[in-house]
Amino acid sequence: MRSLSGIQPSGRLHLGNYFGAVRQFLKLQEEGHECFYFLANYHALTSIQDKRELEEATVHLATGYLALGIDPERSVFFAQSDVPQVTELCWVLNCVCPVSLMEKATSYKDKVAKGLPANMGLFDYPVLQAADIIIYDSNIVPVGADQKQHVEMTRDIAIKFNMTFGEVLVVPEAYIVQEVAVVPGLDGQKMSKSYDNVIEIFQTEQATKKVCARIVTDSTPLEGPKDPEACNVFALLKLLAEPAEAEAVAGKYRAGGYGYGQAKGRLAELINERFAAAREKYAELEKDSDHVRDVLREGGRKAREVAEATMQRVRDACGIVTNR
Ligand code: ADP
Ligand code: TRP
Repeated sequence: MRSLSGIQPSGRLHLGNYFGAVRQFLKLQEEGHECFYFLANYHALTSIQDKRELEEATVHLATGYLALGIDPERSVFFAQSDVPQVTELCWVLNCVCPVSLMEKATSYKDKVAKGLPANMGLFDYPVLQAADIIIYDSNIVPVGADQKQHVEMTRDIAIKFNMTFGEVLVVPEAYIVQEVAVVPGLDGQKMSKSYDNVIEIFQTEQATKKVCARIVTDSTPLEGPKDPEACNVFALLKLLAEPAEAEAVAGKYRAGGYGYGQAKGRLAELINERFAAAREKYAELEKDSDHVRDVLREGGRKAREVAEATMQRVRDACGIVTNR
């Protein structure tokens, strides 16, 4: 089974990315599947148009993936821009993709509603994502719930291509773990860079405490009984604590006499414990940016080999004559 996924370098890694996506990347890697994980920097260009910002976010994401445990010995780890065949395939897929399919994309509508300029790249974003997935003959795509529609569109595009040119492309499936499909942010909405409600993974213990203290709760006084299932702090704590501890904390919520402040403090401790080793690794890798680049270079080489084989199948199927 081949697993593929990408994250845009468009901010700093947060708990939503970890639980919704990266944790599944690691699980599939552990299980010995063929894994392809990448930095979606051409996707990021649809919204980040500042050289320094994009470069910095790219280095952060590459370092973060490796620090969290993506192992280049077991997974092909690379940057999207090192595989030019992907943008080539995107063009071919554009030619079979109905405009009406793209007009249904909720992420495009959301982004434009938020004030991002409606450039063609933003509109075409799902087709580039389809190319990312299809070019490696991917079977499963581990992502959070917000990406479900993009994977559905990928399936539609692959099927349309196969109907037009013959059975050439593998039709993939989303791999979404329900309990973590939508990790809530500080305000209870989906945790997302664009809502400014994230808990970053790679920050100091002190900064983690501070940000946890900002999680929005209701105003039940300390003594009052509380409903754990209606609380953002508990929703996050449940992701990090052992089940027995989560159960015990839920009991304390219901009994009263346990304040949100205490729960926030415990949550910060759990986050700091969970990511202590990754943060150390991150600091080491940050000092060795040549190593990170070497890893990406090697991953790009492996990814291009697979991508070129698929692309040649595609060119042959469509009658695109190459003279190289
Ligand atoms: P953001 O929404 O912060 O811009 P991205 O779109 O870059 O995050 O997401 C990268 C990956 O992380 C995707 O697979 C996405 O589904 C997942 N993801 C992001 N935020 C969450 C969340 N709050 N809950 C679950 N998964 C998430
Ligand atoms: N759209 C994804 C996101 O915002 C990033 C992405 C780009 C991706 N290409 C992909 C995810 C291919 C999975 C597969 O998170």
